Amino acid sequence: MTRRTDDGSGIVTRKVALQILRSVYQERRMLSHLDLTAGLAAPERARAERLAQSVLRHTGRIDKLLSHYLERRPHPAAQNILRLGVVELLIDRSEAYGVVNAAVAIAKQARPTSGAAGLINAVLRKVDQEGHEIWAGLGPQTLPVWLRKAVGGAWGEAATRAIEAAHEAAAPIDITLRDPSAQPSFGERLPTGSIRLPRQTQVSGLDGYDEGAFWVQDAAAALPARLFGEVTDARVLDLCAAPGGKTLQLAAARAKVTALDLSPARLRRVDENLKRTGLSAQLVSGDVLEFSEAPWPMILLDAPCSASGTIRRHPDLPFVKSAREVEALTKLQMQMIDRAVSLLETGGRLVYCTCSLLPNEGENQIKAALKRHSDLQVMSIDAAALGVDPAWISAEGGLRILPHYWAENGGLDGFYMALLQKR
Ligand SMILES: C[S@@+](CC[C@H](N)C(=O)[O-])C[C@H]1O[C@@H](n2cnc3c(N)ncnc32)[C@H](O)[C@@H]1O
Repeated sequence: MTRRTDDGSGIVTRKVALQILRSVYQERRMLSHLDLTAGLAAPERARAERLAQSVLRHTGRIDKLLSHYLERRPHPAAQNILRLGVVELLIDRSEAYGVVNAAVAIAKQARPTSGAAGLINAVLRKVDQEGHEIWAGLGPQTLPVWLRKAVGGAWGEAATRAIEAAHEAAAPIDITLRDPSAQPSFGERLPTGSIRLPRQTQVSGLDGYDEGAFWVQDAAAALPARLFGEVTDARVLDLCAAPGGKTLQLAAARAKVTALDLSPARLRRVDENLKRTGLSAQLVSGDVLEFSEAPWPMILLDAPCSASGTIRRHPDLPFVKSAREVEALTKLQMQMIDRAVSLLETGGRLVYCTCSLLPNEGENQIKAALKRHSDLQVMSIDAAALGVDPAWISAEGGLRILPHYWAENGGLDGFYMALLQKR
């Protein structure tokens, strides 16, 4: 592989950041599916990724700011050069001379942007002179129109603004301990038991990583598996299990776990995670909708969803997911719930969860499931035992978590979970 290096001007690094942006905005590709930084030296790769993520995280606010200076939007490639310049000037507070020169040089190198080099020069100079104040007055805007409408309709304007602020602030790193009673020498223990680390922590360098004493898992994502309570020796079917955070929790709590996922590649990650942590589970590659082995006393269904609760970790999501896609996922969740209920034994319990901000993927799924299945009931959640605020329990008895909860401690991923029992 040819190694691309920067000559010190940062041009190559910025161009890679711009390629990443084009892939997300124009091709609707997820950051996790891109490999555009291959060949860059490690510090340059990290910088390109950080720059692109920062632009994605602040796109709404950046575009609002730029609209002060643009009568109409330039070519998308020129808009991306401007967006990158805004991040460098207003967030990174880099020296303006270098930022503007690099932006202009990049613009001149390609056809669709060369004609906009003068405009880019003028706009970025203005942004440098007066942008800070306008930026501060604009506030975060991280949700696309369709999602903002749905989130605003569900949680109100003030909460939606707080959620967008949480998205811009990004997320710390949370880990789950294999032995919850262990006392690690790092991080801060949250009321839920997860250990919270600063964002820049190199997790693989921490004491206990090689021995598998913990794994990375958002504090909210660590709650659904705990809704069952005691699981020692219980047979638990973990549906949609990969990459395996909840499988590991259940296995660590001594359940006999069968973990099923559609994706063999993602299932390999469950296997790797089990090996690293020295835990075991039976792995099954297959479709929930076709799985028929039954009955089970406990089933966890972590259904595929919009993942809108994880935007603070994945700022590319708003540009990749569409309302139509989420509608299709909502139907799939309903079918998966029906399948899971059919696999439960009488008296058996089902935990349903999604990392979504949307009631249609959470509360409304449970309300609809109760109407379809007269033998299903919601069981109460013990907020104190989980270490969460009892006010987070929703009307139908589920647990609703939004990203601005515990904002002063770094927030939480948006999540919904409910515990059901088949009578
Ligand atoms: C939200 S993720 C699960 C996260 C996982 N439970 C954890 O804690 O790490 C959803 C998973 O559902 C899987 N999936 C999607 N459709 C499926 C289907 N029809 N049957 C089984 N698994 C499916 C995806 O491959 C993905 O790994």
